[in-house]
Amino acid sequence: MEKKKFYITTPIYYPSGKWHIGTCYTTIICDALARYKRMQGYDVFYLTGTDEHGQKIQKVASACGVPVKQYIDGVVNELKKLWDLLDISYDKFIRTTDEYHERAVQKIFQKLYDKGDIYKSAYEGWYCTPCEAFWTKTQLVDGKCPDCGREVELTKEESYFFKLSKYQDRIQKLIEDDKEFLQPITRQNEMLNNFIKPGLQDLCVSRTSFDWGIKVPFDSKHVVYVWIDALTNYITALGYGGDDEELFKKYWPADVHMMGKEIIRFHSIIWPAILMALDLPLPKKVYGHGWLMFNNDKMSKSKGNIVDPFILCERYGVDALRYYMLREVPFGQDGNFTNEIFLKLRNSDLANDLGNLVSRVTAMVAQYFDGVIPEPIDCNDVDKDLIAMAEKMYPTVTAYMDEMRAPEALDTIFKVIQRANKYIDECTPWILAKSEEGRQRLKTVLYNLCEAIRMTSVILQPFLTQTPAKIFEKLGIKADMGLTGFDSLQKFGAKIYGLKVDKGEQLFQRIDIAKELKVMDEILEQEIKKAKEQKKEKEKVENVVTLQQIGIEDFAKIELKVGTVLECKKVEKADKLLCSQIDVGESNPRTIVSGIAKYYTPEDMVGKQVIVVTNLKPAKLRGIESQGMVLCAEDENGDLALIAPIKSVKSGSIVG
Ligand code: MSP
Repeated sequence: MEKKKFYITTPIYYPSGKWHIGTCYTTIICDALARYKRMQGYDVFYLTGTDEHGQKIQKVASACGVPVKQYIDGVVNELKKLWDLLDISYDKFIRTTDEYHERAVQKIFQKLYDKGDIYKSAYEGWYCTPCEAFWTKTQLVDGKCPDCGREVELTKEESYFFKLSKYQDRIQKLIEDDKEFLQPITRQNEMLNNFIKPGLQDLCVSRTSFDWGIKVPFDSKHVVYVWIDALTNYITALGYGGDDEELFKKYWPADVHMMGKEIIRFHSIIWPAILMALDLPLPKKVYGHGWLMFNNDKMSKSKGNIVDPFILCERYGVDALRYYMLREVPFGQDGNFTNEIFLKLRNSDLANDLGNLVSRVTAMVAQYFDGVIPEPIDCNDVDKDLIAMAEKMYPTVTAYMDEMRAPEALDTIFKVIQRANKYIDECTPWILAKSEEGRQRLKTVLYNLCEAIRMTSVILQPFLTQTPAKIFEKLGIKADMGLTGFDSLQKFGAKIYGLKVDKGEQLFQRIDIAKELKVMDEILEQEIKKAKEQKKEKEKVENVVTLQQIGIEDFAKIELKVGTVLECKKVEKADKLLCSQIDVGESNPRTIVSGIAKYYTPEDMVGKQVIVVTNLKPAKLRGIESQGMVLCAEDENGDLALIAPIKSVKSGSIVG
């Protein structure tokens, strides 16, 4: 029988350079789902990748002084290392700079244009460069970008537009009628009331103000702008618009597009409209998860309050991080990460509940039965309770996973683990071991415990990628025994007796929480310090980069002359200001006020030659009209020096 397919995607990631545990959230849930479906026998295709075009990335790269592609290659490599570390089992990694994607996007753009769904017009809006977003005047907050609070520029440019408005009714109907399409359900009203019902506007889909993007095929002045380039990755990755559409025919439509809540709008409105325009089937589900916060605050690179997944995995293990992510963020809501909860959860669930269970049981098998799992004899009510829970586990967990409720799924599994621990206390193996009759009963008890451990390990495999394999090894279970797949979960009672256990090392060493918290705090402090320094550095570079290049004719507009300071005094009640009389070769000296009193005394100034901007509009400072500006240089520590000719020249000499 042909396997049922399951196509799942994460968004493509911006190569922003620093990865934190929030970034890992989408890929980890998708990975658990993909692994779960694979174990259920589905033919799974799991797609992830990177979103590499746009002005922002071009700027960051040029600020680092490297060609854009070279810069991105480095960042993408780091991201792939992270996914490898976290055991992300993606089937394909798409980069929007991949040639096949670029070609397919051009074809798509052409197709939409030919159909009349893309047309040329002009765009006027307030543009925020760091966010790469256009805003209308009413959307601005205090005249600034509503997302990041930075300055915006009024921009008008010729652009191509996608006729999103044409699909208004069909999109509204889609969200209203297909209750499965957009999940969780709360997002449906949000989209309907905030965006769809007020009216969908046509969408700007090309730009001319930067060139790091895919060229519009019939108008090379334009590059394809963000969403047509980015969203189409879900089909171009399968070969749509290329030479071989085999994968596309097999896997499209997507079963789940998973993403953070901030980009649901694009996936539940713009993306279906593009697909409608292309006459393609729509994805079955768009799922918007909440954010992972740090100490209830949004994680951000610039705040430095980010938790480095590389450090966490190195110190506490990949499974500890995966467990936290899957266990702690409730269905569709925001989740919180604190170092303390992370360490406590690792100690309580992984080291105590799971780790101890495995080490206690394997130790008892070693001690009482020479390390060989005994064959069970009979079963009583206490056994039945454990057995019933273990058998109910698979259908319950499956139902939760079908609704993407990983925390409840894990809770179900850990309840069985806790039940097994309680079972040890109820059965008191150490007392049973003392009598011959007890030893007979002990066979059943230890078998049941080993079987409960096996079953929980089988079902833990999609969630924890390293621990289950270690447990199988301890129980003497090999991959080819048919004891590690989901089909072995239907019934309690697999033939594991006779297998030789190996207690080996502890699965999870308990952590001294107070001690570790200190270490983690120190790491965080360093990150924050580093972020502050980097922010300063970045602002400096951005300032330099955002200044437009000027032609010589622009430079010629500034008149610079050498001046000689004749007199100088402090400005009253103004700590920073000096007022100088400067001879710039005119009939009278100029009065110029400068903010340099912290660096130069009036005595220092007299007799010095300086460079003066002589055609600057006069400005009043503390009631004094300043008739020009003296040039200074300032370093990043705020230290300041006057600029002067290196040998004395005639006052009024032209600088240029
Ligand atoms: N490039 C766009 C997506 C285009 S898809 C056609 C993008 N990229 S992103 O790098 O900013 O985000 C990638 C994913 O990481 C998104 O699902 C986003 O929600 C997720 N996360 C980034 N930080 C996060 C948290 N702190 N918590 C949970 N997920 C968050 O958006």
